[in-house]
Amino acid sequence: MTDKTRPTSNGTVESLLTEQRVFRPLPRVIADSAVNPADLKLAHEKADTNRLAYWEEAAERLQWYRRWNTVLDESSAPFYKWFEGARCNIVHNALDRHITSPNRNKLALIWEGEPGNTRRLTYFELYREVNKCANALRELGVAKGDRVVIYLPSLPETVISMLAAAKIGAIHSVVFAGFSAHALAERIEDAKPKIIITVDAFYRNGRVLALKPLVDEALEQAEHSVEHTIVVHRTHVTVSMNPEKDLWWHDVMREKSYEAITESMEATDPLFMLYTSGTTDKPKGVVHSHGGYMVGVHHTFTQVFDNHATDIFWCTADVGWITGHSYVVYGPLMAGTTTFIYEGHPLYPEAGRVWSVVERWGISVLYTVPTLIRMLMRFGEKYTQQHDLSTLRLLGTVGEPISPDAWVWFHKNVGKGRCPLLDTWWQTETGMIMISPYPISVLKPGSVARPLPAVDVDIVDDTGTSVPTGKGGYLVIKNPWPAMITTLFNDDETYKEMYWSRFAGQYCSGDIARRDEDGYIWVQGRADDVIMIAGHRIGTAEFEAALATHPLVAECAVIGIPNAIRGEVAKAFVVLKEQTDTLYFMDEESETEQQLIEHVRAELGSIAVVGAVDIRDALPRNRSGKIMRRLLRAETTGSEIGDTSTLEEDPFWATTD
Ligand code: WT7
Repeated sequence: MTDKTRPTSNGTVESLLTEQRVFRPLPRVIADSAVNPADLKLAHEKADTNRLAYWEEAAERLQWYRRWNTVLDESSAPFYKWFEGARCNIVHNALDRHITSPNRNKLALIWEGEPGNTRRLTYFELYREVNKCANALRELGVAKGDRVVIYLPSLPETVISMLAAAKIGAIHSVVFAGFSAHALAERIEDAKPKIIITVDAFYRNGRVLALKPLVDEALEQAEHSVEHTIVVHRTHVTVSMNPEKDLWWHDVMREKSYEAITESMEATDPLFMLYTSGTTDKPKGVVHSHGGYMVGVHHTFTQVFDNHATDIFWCTADVGWITGHSYVVYGPLMAGTTTFIYEGHPLYPEAGRVWSVVERWGISVLYTVPTLIRMLMRFGEKYTQQHDLSTLRLLGTVGEPISPDAWVWFHKNVGKGRCPLLDTWWQTETGMIMISPYPISVLKPGSVARPLPAVDVDIVDDTGTSVPTGKGGYLVIKNPWPAMITTLFNDDETYKEMYWSRFAGQYCSGDIARRDEDGYIWVQGRADDVIMIAGHRIGTAEFEAALATHPLVAECAVIGIPNAIRGEVAKAFVVLKEQTDTLYFMDEESETEQQLIEHVRAELGSIAVVGAVDIRDALPRNRSGKIMRRLLRAETTGSEIGDTSTLEEDPFWATTD
């Protein structure tokens, strides 16, 4: 086995183009797996013959209040209606049905706070907490279709409030606790929630971060007022409480009944929305349904992670992202698995925290992001050797391309060469894993392997024609799938335009990929103006809008640049306003740069990392006066990345230039 990778500062894409290593499944993995290679082949054949029958069978493994009339109603495409006519509630499958099964007294949720305190809830206990919270929300006037914004880090209450909202038919919208007051205000204005659920403060990297004040600030900014803010009491930080509107979680939960009726929903009714960045300056609310999402997430969770009854599943994503929704909360709970969540920073109090968690709780499946692997790799093998990682049986990654080097490090030092490592591709919009190996698949480091059965993926050129093997192109999905986005909140037009207009009738993912001679897919990155920072999407337009609000900024352009740990960060090219009152000296430049970096962080939140600021006298423009980001990119990162010669334009950098 030769190592053909050429590591660079962030050599992910270059090394993906030359990687040739292959890892075959161990006989023991095949013996232990519910799906063996012959089963998988059969599943593909079945799905190819009758895609809808395949999904119908998946739906039959769950409980419904009323059966569907049709599996898929395509009459108003691209507003696809999965399981049209059916009635259900995802919480019935995630909780209610376990209470009468042997899962009743099994652990549903294990939580560890950053300081080391823990909480464990059995299915029965979680069910009761959710019912109490559902009753509390109902008493506060929340009804079917109302929105509930949840601005919390990964706490048990985050899971409880999501499930409680869904149980009563309300639409939850979790806002990642790393977002700023401004970002929260934007989301509140769009979602118009009746209630916000938050926390006084939480622990992160040894610090106590207050969250409630940010809610107050956001509500002052937003042109929408909520009826109540419910505050979880996590720390001893004193926060101001408005006696008319603000309520403590423990007060609203007190003396509530342990029983609550689960609302019967249409399969197509919205379950939640989650804001995600696109090419516009405002994030969009991706809407997911009860029925289709439930089927897609349950099926992929049980299949891809080859769910074992004894598993303790740790997905390191924050509950506030789609990965947290699908594979921390809904997937594991529907499957009756024990899901683990951690509040804090993965390197606190030292670089062995992740491995110590694996050892102490006996984690068996670890699903994480390449950024975390790159962070932990820096510390070498010392920490992975210090801890007993023998309970692990399966590893997974998601969110950004993983370089073969990081893949091999994780596979060798964490999986000890015996745990399959699955690189899974999907998006907020797809709701579920779309392309991924199975534990029994042949693995190629850096490749997401083949599409799952019944997932119809193609790689096409500008005209929508399939590109030849080995050539790069746009990754599209040619047929609908159950957990798909149903629309953008209050914006059907943009939904059609953004995803379905580029290639008629096909879903455009916005990614660039190629397929090798074995049909394995290698994802190269985004084709649009989206920067992937530590696996999180932020549009360059969002950065530009944030910078533009700084009093010193006359104009600006933002591009993504490679970063060794985060994958990508932003680089801002800025033209400053002429200073009338103070003279601007060159030696003040670094101070200004720092100010701008801080300003963006305050505007967008801590995930919005600006790695470099370049102050210019002018920005390059084309004849019609548009800023040419393409030129800025070319000068920053050099030539085209990857073979995308089938595309007329360089798609990796394709922009609105
Ligand atoms: C974008 C979606 C749902 C997962 C969390 C991110 C990138 C996702 C992979 C992968 C290479 C990947 C794509 C995609 N991405 N998984 N395995 N390999 N790139 O969800 O915020 O909606 O971002 O993440 O670029 O379009 P998201």
